[in-house]
Amino acid sequence: MKKHFSILLIAGLICALGCKQSSQNVDEALVEQKDVLVEKFRPNFHFTPKANWMNDPNGLVYYKGYYHLFYQYYPDSTVWGPMHWGHAKSKDLLHWEHRPVALYPDSLGYIFSGSAVIDKNNTAGFGKDAMVAIFTYHDPVKEKEGKINYQTQGIAYSNDEGETWTKYEHNPVIKNPGIKDFRDPKVFWNEEKSKWQLVLVAKDHVQIYESPNIKDWSKISEFRFNDNPPLGVWECPDLFKLPVEGSNEQKWVLIISHGGESAPNGGSGTRYFVGDYDGTTFTTNQKESQWIDYGTDNYAGVTFNNTPDNKRIFIGWMSNWNYATVTPTEKWRSAMTLPRELSVYKQNNQYFLKSKPIDGFDAMTQSVAKNEISGDFPHKISFENLQHSEISFDAEIKDSLQIVFSNNEGEKYILAYNKANGLFTTDRTHSGQVDFSENYLKTAFQTMNIGTKDALSIKIVLDASSAEIFLNNGEFVMTNQIFPNENYTHFEILPNTDLKIENFNLKEIENAIE
Ligand code: FRU
Repeated sequence: MKKHFSILLIAGLICALGCKQSSQNVDEALVEQKDVLVEKFRPNFHFTPKANWMNDPNGLVYYKGYYHLFYQYYPDSTVWGPMHWGHAKSKDLLHWEHRPVALYPDSLGYIFSGSAVIDKNNTAGFGKDAMVAIFTYHDPVKEKEGKINYQTQGIAYSNDEGETWTKYEHNPVIKNPGIKDFRDPKVFWNEEKSKWQLVLVAKDHVQIYESPNIKDWSKISEFRFNDNPPLGVWECPDLFKLPVEGSNEQKWVLIISHGGESAPNGGSGTRYFVGDYDGTTFTTNQKESQWIDYGTDNYAGVTFNNTPDNKRIFIGWMSNWNYATVTPTEKWRSAMTLPRELSVYKQNNQYFLKSKPIDGFDAMTQSVAKNEISGDFPHKISFENLQHSEISFDAEIKDSLQIVFSNNEGEKYILAYNKANGLFTTDRTHSGQVDFSENYLKTAFQTMNIGTKDALSIKIVLDASSAEIFLNNGEFVMTNQIFPNENYTHFEILPNTDLKIENFNLKEIENAIE
């Protein structure tokens, strides 16, 4: 059901003259929505489990009209514990249907992250079109005993579209080679070689394996990168091919997440390499790490297998290991990012990855205001609730730009761009609840070097507890979790000097909660 925004656009005035702000009383922990009791921070259109703990997206695969999202899930608590695979499915990647837990821990261990494919030619003998999952077994007993070989890879299959699963009787299919962190297999069908291949992480590098049947695997290569200093433990790799925008060239992209304090703004984060893959070895000329998202809250993201239109759709876990277990939600913990379409572009002889909300996201949004903002600044717009909205505009910038979201409690979430130093920044220091974690506060001010730009196209997607910022159609991205005590009701654009705003559009986003 679409809610109605009341809009007031005031140029040059701080909302003084009876501007209508019917902000919701979000002090109550729960509000009634679509017959479900919903906590105030529960997103309207980002995926969350109905209850309890979630981390990485797993087994992303399309089959018979549905995108399947499996995820690291602990059904007994709102903090991390013995891992299961939760399951949801969706026709459009935005409206999700919760399904029963898919995979439970067994005698070989917890079910850690992994991926899934559709075995169209029945190479594994589990049945034509079986959905086959490959995941990491994490054996807590061996771990406790101080052994290092406690992570192995196992498989399971489903002949009913992911509803029920059978574990393979000869698991594990890849034994531990004596490496402590050995996990997160991402499997794909290599068309050119007519073989299954997978990438997994082994502490500080990637290993590539191949198989004729998803059961028997041999290692074919490794990928390392000379990081100085080394980044935190390597996790959740992905490897796929993409065309370079505006050319006939094809490139391969390797995605890797890193724990510890690796990411540009602290804590865990996800980087990528663009390069070449000859079917055995991945190589890149890239000299430095590039990050898929410069905000603190996009981790362990991977892409869908078997998409109908060959699009590369990415979903990340919208949190950070630095504070994930203590965010101020009650019945559930953690959401996924918006599904994002990835593409590769070339600039100054270098390749980069772009990520933007999938095209279908537009269908969930409805313009509530289209304003040619011009004239005196500051511009201030007030709404009853900005926290299910998308704001986009193009800015011609003379020297700087500031964007402020605020509420009647004086809480503020601030975005800024300073042309002189090329830094785009976000500041959640006074954005709402912040003191649930020192680590969250430590990373409250975040920067991203976008260089000197005369013009920027900006898209900001706000949900109950998140902000996703896409610059220049996804060339630069920042994702932040925010926890305002009251919904933001004001939006301001403040320049220091001349600033031209065009194509301003505010859209309300439909509530997609199941
Ligand atoms: C990444 C990760 C994976 C692991 C899973 C365990 O967030 O640490 O490497 O498989 O989470 O839940």
